[in-house]
Amino acid sequence: MSLAGKRILLVISGGIAAYKSLDLIRRLRERGAQVRPVMTAGAREFVTPLAVGALSSGHVYTDLFSREDEQDVGHIRLARDCDLIIVAPATADLMAKMANGLAEDLASTVLLATDRPVLVAPAMNPKMWSHAATRRNVETLRRDGLSFVGPNAGEMAEGGEAGLGRMAEPLEIVAAAEDLLDGGRKPLAGRRAVVTSGPTHEPIDPVRYIANRSSGRQGHAIAAALAKLGADVTLVSGPVTLPDPRGVKVIKVERAEEMLAAVLGALPADIAVMVAAVADWRVATENTEKIKKTPGEGPPPLMLAENPDILKTIGHHAQRPKVVVGFAAETQDVEDNGRVKLRKKGADLIVANDVSPETGIMGGTRNSVKLITAAGIEEWPDLSKDEVAGRLAGWIAERLS
Ligand code: C5P
Repeated sequence: MSLAGKRILLVISGGIAAYKSLDLIRRLRERGAQVRPVMTAGAREFVTPLAVGALSSGHVYTDLFSREDEQDVGHIRLARDCDLIIVAPATADLMAKMANGLAEDLASTVLLATDRPVLVAPAMNPKMWSHAATRRNVETLRRDGLSFVGPNAGEMAEGGEAGLGRMAEPLEIVAAAEDLLDGGRKPLAGRRAVVTSGPTHEPIDPVRYIANRSSGRQGHAIAAALAKLGADVTLVSGPVTLPDPRGVKVIKVERAEEMLAAVLGALPADIAVMVAAVADWRVATENTEKIKKTPGEGPPPLMLAENPDILKTIGHHAQRPKVVVGFAAETQDVEDNGRVKLRKKGADLIVANDVSPETGIMGGTRNSVKLITAAGIEEWPDLSKDEVAGRLAGWIAERLS
């Protein structure tokens, strides 16, 4: 009952994703929350107040000028008598009103009158989401301190179009609400963590380098998830295009040797999660000038040298962190290779994932992993990289407790 006793005002606006809000009400109530729904006129075109009222077991508020609604609680009390307001789905129109302080129906008035935290779950056509006006409004609302969950990428409910705009799934909205309402639970407070993420770039000459397809998504998500649980996190990142996670100290490096130096510099730590896809080899002798292409001479020979193994170094270090986690990106014999790695690298846990091309995991947004420890193997279902990160941070917190 993670939301026991929490009072949630759910504002439903007019998008096809309103059908998912019915499930959201169930999920919130299952966790002990009381849900008071407010529906816009648009929302009532998609789902009926009867259905919303039946699921929330109470009155559905729809009308700013209704004597009955005003006598019941009144729009100002409606706006304040709750622990959290969730806007799901939030249409482009409602977000535009919120960003500009308009108050022309019950939903927009409540959102202007509230002093409670607000969680917004946008849902709209991808073109509307990427429109400059929506981008400005979202930016304004974020600056005003509102929180967002989603939208996600995928097929639109109306069919035919794909892209960013699908409302976050009810359980993702529930998780975001739990996070917002549970800022006090920090099991990793006082713990230090070092996380590596992304690829490394090993220079061939001043313009060329050896790299790999790692996006850094999983490593960055883990750094963020550990920070969320209160850890003091240093993220050592190879070259990626991701924004720095909030609340995390980021050290940017290019080569494996720089990454190792930065990780050693972050010791002592309680937790090390080595997610980076470190290049196994670098070019042995660095070319300070660009290698010229000379016709008739063929390609230049490239001598490679082995890079340091950062995980192995940390796993056997005098200042070894209490929990050392490695990743094993494999394309075959995922479990056997994971077990061997656990031993060789001195890790407590190897998170093994199959990165064969058909899984699309390397550089993708989802991951299906197996946890290999001395005690055995645990398989997790296919999850988003953020979900894997959240669960892994929980696993680490438990191990340290
Ligand atoms: O040996 P392999 O590259 O498969 O091991 C993967 C794990 O080891 C990952 O956790 C990765 O971050 C780490 N690693 C490392 N330094 C290397 C190679 C791998 O830290 N040079």
